[in-house]
Amino acid sequence: MQAVSERQGHRFEFSEQLIGGAAIDAVGDPLPPDSVASCRDSHAVLLGAVGGPQWSDPNATVRPEQGLLALRAALGVFANLRPVQIYPQLAGASPIKEERLKNVDMMVVRELTGGIYFGAKTRDANSASDLCSYQRHEIERIVRVAAELARRRNGKLCSVDKANVLETSRLWRDTTDKLIKAEYSDLQLEHMLVDAAAMHLINRPADFDVVVTENMFGDILTDEVSMLAGSLGMLPSASLDDGARGLYEPIHGSAPDIAGRDIANPCGSIASAALLLRHSLHLDDEANAVEAAIASVIEKGGRTADIATADATILSTAQMTAAIIKALP
Ligand code: IPM
Ligand code: MG
Repeated sequence: MQAVSERQGHRFEFSEQLIGGAAIDAVGDPLPPDSVASCRDSHAVLLGAVGGPQWSDPNATVRPEQGLLALRAALGVFANLRPVQIYPQLAGASPIKEERLKNVDMMVVRELTGGIYFGAKTRDANSASDLCSYQRHEIERIVRVAAELARRRNGKLCSVDKANVLETSRLWRDTTDKLIKAEYSDLQLEHMLVDAAAMHLINRPADFDVVVTENMFGDILTDEVSMLAGSLGMLPSASLDDGARGLYEPIHGSAPDIAGRDIANPCGSIASAALLLRHSLHLDDEANAVEAAIASVIEKGGRTADIATADATILSTAQMTAAIIKALP
């Protein structure tokens, strides 16, 4: 962001706030009120991953992930865009056969502030429950976001649900059908059950354009499709409200196994900053420039360890970042 501002003559104001494990350590709260206030006060939020082994006890009453979920809710960022683009040079880094990766370019639109993540929870010694509920208007607004994207892309929308089992999914399917019929009849709509989607996304990924789905299915399927891009470290995401405010984060987590060793892949984070420039600051040229810089470094063979094939020179996080900054116009 700093490099973009220096080169393009913009002035960005930054405010750094704590969330997750760092906030628990500092003040015992994974999302301190000051952090929420500062995020609400900003045009956009660029987020670092929130967890780590020292806070990972799932039985703890205070957990880093609560901070992330509370921030998504507080900002009302219900639309999580997870674009999946393949750099042809990274085909060898993917566990999926190269011929299946040709022409893969999809956008997964994940509902982010509803469903089982936010339903009532109960727990006693021998039983537990998590409520999954959706309102029609929550489905309509996320499907609308996906439909608008599909219109500007290849006109194909795949809605993923589990309508053969779940009532929320039957409402999802009904709502999607009605909305697309009424307002987006130019689009090609397909419904797919989530288990079948898990298979088809890997087997014939190039057939997908925009995929829209509920919160938990989207969480799971996007980790799966990240393997098409070669590494979880490559994928950015944008979480948007119904205006221009957004929360931007790579789809990967804090990767505690490699933390602090200067070997993590910064591309997902840097590409998230590009999405921030585009969606919240309306700086399309700058966003395109950042994405082009990542692409040119990859094209010239720049590789962090997670995307390196046998004979590549491996760059550290700092070196990869410096190379991308250097490639900016
Ligand atoms: C993601 C993450 C989060 C989620 C976790 C950290 C709560 O997996 O953004 O995909 O499940 O939404
Ligand atoms: Mg996830």
